[in-house]
Amino acid sequence: MDYALLRTQVEALLGGETDFIANAGNFSAFVYHELPDLNWAGFYFPASSGDLLLGPFNGRPACTRLPSGRGVCGAAFVRGETMVVDDVHAYADHIACDSASVSEIVVPLRDERGIFGVFDIDSPQPARFTPADRAGIEALVDAFVRTCGSRAIAN
Ligand code: SME
Repeated sequence: MDYALLRTQVEALLGGETDFIANAGNFSAFVYHELPDLNWAGFYFPASSGDLLLGPFNGRPACTRLPSGRGVCGAAFVRGETMVVDDVHAYADHIACDSASVSEIVVPLRDERGIFGVFDIDSPQPARFTPADRAGIEALVDAFVRTCGSRAIAN
């Protein structure tokens, strides 16, 4: 994948708009359609309870609320670091929203005030996300955060 080109395309897609929901929706759709072998791509944002709540996404309907600190998403959010899981069946705290998912990457959303959500991608393919994919996807998420006025949705 040419992640540098994808980053330029993300900046072009989102750069003319500052609305957070609009840009989060388009970012999810862009990732879902541009990266091969995915079955889900989308956001979770923290509720005041600490749970992660479903945000804009592409793919099949997903779990609405992930208990605080739980799942791959909760781990990425609490640790503030990207989680890559090659086989979700071997990850004890994985939360299954779609039995088709086999591997997963979750990237925290970080701005100058800290972590305010996560971007989650699932694949039906084992070990879909290589170190190069991780670096490229982190760069795309960074482009999203920089282009869209970050915390508009978070509470
Ligand atoms: N598998 C995630 C839950 C979200 S769905 O994959 C869309 C997790 O374990 O946190």
